[in-house]
Amino acid sequence: MAARRQAGGAIRAGAAPCTVRHDAGGMMDTITVDLGARSYPIHVGVGILDEVGARVREVRSGPRVAVLTGTTVGELYGERVAASLHHSGFDPITITIPDGEEHKNLAWLAFLYDRLIEARIDRDSALIALGGGVIGDLAGFAAATFLRGVPFVQVPTTLLAQVDASVGGKTGVNHPAGKNLIGAFYQPRLVLIDVAVLRTLPRRELAAGLAEVIKYGVILDPALFELLEERLDHVLHGDADLLVQIVGACCRLKAEVVREDETERGYRAVLNFGHTLGHAVEALTEYRRFLHGEAVAIGMAFAARLSQARAHCDAATTQRLRRLLKHAGLPTDVPGDLGPDALAAAIATDKKTRDGKVQFVCIERIGKTRFEYLSGVEIVAHL
Ligand SMILES: NC(=O)c1ccc[n+]([C@@H]2O[C@H](COP(=O)([O-])OP(=O)(O)OC[C@H]3O[C@@H](n4cnc5c(N)ncnc54)[C@H](O)[C@@H]3O)[C@@H](O)[C@H]2O)c1
Ligand SMILES: [Zn+2]
Repeated sequence: MAARRQAGGAIRAGAAPCTVRHDAGGMMDTITVDLGARSYPIHVGVGILDEVGARVREVRSGPRVAVLTGTTVGELYGERVAASLHHSGFDPITITIPDGEEHKNLAWLAFLYDRLIEARIDRDSALIALGGGVIGDLAGFAAATFLRGVPFVQVPTTLLAQVDASVGGKTGVNHPAGKNLIGAFYQPRLVLIDVAVLRTLPRRELAAGLAEVIKYGVILDPALFELLEERLDHVLHGDADLLVQIVGACCRLKAEVVREDETERGYRAVLNFGHTLGHAVEALTEYRRFLHGEAVAIGMAFAARLSQARAHCDAATTQRLRRLLKHAGLPTDVPGDLGPDALAAAIATDKKTRDGKVQFVCIERIGKTRFEYLSGVEIVAHL
């Protein structure tokens, strides 16, 4: 189920050497994000939280380390991670930020810098993000900028952060003028993914993460898509081995895309499948009504419909995608109160627009995409 570079520029699924192994703690998968001198491993397994200390040793961090976490995750897992770090001879401090996207901003970044200075964190000290994408983005940007860069470790705890936000090196904070307007590309030294933490993740958050998982299947990996069609109920019930397999597959796919296009100049745009309309839906509903993955699910169902209308894919492909999204408990219809004019205007303000056109990701079949350059008006004509 891993991605493989093909002649002609596309990445398609193919049999790749399997690195999944069974050990005492269950399944374990290791993916290498291959970026030359900045390459790093992603370890996916069950119970990895207890290995954080031993694994951080591998990045040669000094004794002082800072763990940035959110209120809920800190309460659930903070002590376990701190104990693992102590056990490996570290002297960790934990910095807790209140939950919520509204705290991914410059004020909380300043708070974080203050705590890092107080704790005398230096260039040898690892900064560890323990939480969802909000914590990962904030901690990553702090790590990129504090003392011009300190070693960064991601321990993502939402499905979305495990398969998407923690891979690829995008970090940043929001500005009142827009989401993620201030940021940097900064790669972690290590990503540690414990799928067991997904047991405490609210069902709605799990489904939102599944939207990104389904996206990888649609754009790059028909075998992953079929696995989801067959075994989604097991995923929803938290089958740990299956989660290791699926999260590992997604990380491998994203790692391959990022290796091709680290700073998003070209091919990485394929990951925007479902995001053009999804972002517009999120913006028009003020980021309150839908979780990101839910808006992306609506955007993917729409992108399939647009692809079908423009004769890129058949009706069966559109139906398969809609069925899988619905099975995951995700929305697939554009809310009736969002009119075409407002949606077209929101698409036109997307920061990825060039000369009034966006690079819209269409599908040809499950596992194969193509780009079309369309204006907001041309896009909403297919609503
Ligand atoms: N850097 C990237 O490439 C990238 C990609 C996608 C999204 N993002 C960013 O990620 C953010 C969204 O991330 P998210 O969806 O993970 O949301 P989030 O970080 O807000 O987490 C969602 C909620 O889940 C809770 N939570 C997290 N892990 C839990 C667990 N194991 N058990 C119980 N509760 C848990 C958190 O406390 C939070 O309330 C956005 O800011 C988005 O911009 C970044
Ligand atoms: Zn997304």
